[in-house]
Amino acid sequence: MPDPSRADRLVALADALDAPVGSLAAVRAPGRVNLIGEHVDYNDGLVLPMAIDRDTIVAWRSRSDGRTTARSLELPGRVDTAADGERTGPTWGAFVPAAARAAVELGAAPVALDLAVTSTVPPGGGLSSSAALSVALVLAHCTAGGLDPDRRTLALAAREVEVAATGVPVGTMDQLASALGVADHALRIDCRDLTVDAVAIPDELAILVVHSGIERTLAGSEYAQRRSACEEAARSLGLASLRDASPEQVAGDPFARHVVAEIARVDAFVAALRAGDPGALGRILLDGHASLRDDFGVSLPAIDVLVDELVAAGAYGARITGAGFGGCVVAIAPRDGVAGIADRAAARYAVATGHTPRSFVVRAASGAAPC
Ligand code: GLA
Repeated sequence: MPDPSRADRLVALADALDAPVGSLAAVRAPGRVNLIGEHVDYNDGLVLPMAIDRDTIVAWRSRSDGRTTARSLELPGRVDTAADGERTGPTWGAFVPAAARAAVELGAAPVALDLAVTSTVPPGGGLSSSAALSVALVLAHCTAGGLDPDRRTLALAAREVEVAATGVPVGTMDQLASALGVADHALRIDCRDLTVDAVAIPDELAILVVHSGIERTLAGSEYAQRRSACEEAARSLGLASLRDASPEQVAGDPFARHVVAEIARVDAFVAALRAGDPGALGRILLDGHASLRDDFGVSLPAIDVLVDELVAAGAYGARITGAGFGGCVVAIAPRDGVAGIADRAAARYAVATGHTPRSFVVRAASGAAPC
């Protein structure tokens, strides 16, 4: 079934709001797929995500009773937050008061809103559904409170919201990608100084995302454990972060070895994109996957099968994307023929593993904005 149009989604959001009168406003924030540079953002490293054409839209009207309410078109329940922050409703509601506080800290006027949320970013899949939600909610509260925040500032505030709402000590990549996305471009982000360079994606290359059908489960606790292991490795070398480590210094530590090699892969990938060299792009993706599988330990046997089947079906390369432990694989394939590659790989993966994959070609999209 095709995704609903933005106009249809706005109508459905307006229908879901409690407050019957007042002007309706809305913002959108995209999910992202990370092309290369995995588990390196919290090591001050380089990453290369792109915002995708799947997003979260938050619509609202003002409320006059001081409460903020929120509902999702996809999830049950209704969030209800009093002015003092006391909250009832589903667990995702934790993002709402955190976003309201973040907007006020950025300089927006305090507001009371009737919010409705809808998303085409698959949850729990490594495509940053949580970052899309937090960026959209902070931008909604800023906009309603009379502030148009600088997008880098917005991203960093949304990252704090996500940490507060989920307890997972995520890095900055996802929110920066969602806030700063550029259509038809990937973003080379230096997570140490937060500089961002847009890198064009040649139109003849298709970015194919295949959800493995395996929901991530251990992602939160394993993620925090990987992060502290990396920080400990840097400390024991007397370094501020693994960004400063050489391959020789980390040769005996698989986690740190992944980080150092992965940071180097990002600029090699950027060079291959600029040179229009799909063979090199594919090899870098496969090297990255092997490193996440063998050194960083965040793949799963079924996901390794999916990567192999995508390559056997004609993709240049593929790798697990996002935090790992399930979720999505990203592949680069020739645009002509990508549908056949996706179908063949999905069919063989389903037979081999018993999981039900879902595949979709994504395009790089622009970042968070009013809509
Ligand atoms: C999650 C986190 C990001 C990043 C990736 C792994 O998506 O939110 O900050 O660390 O995992 O690269």
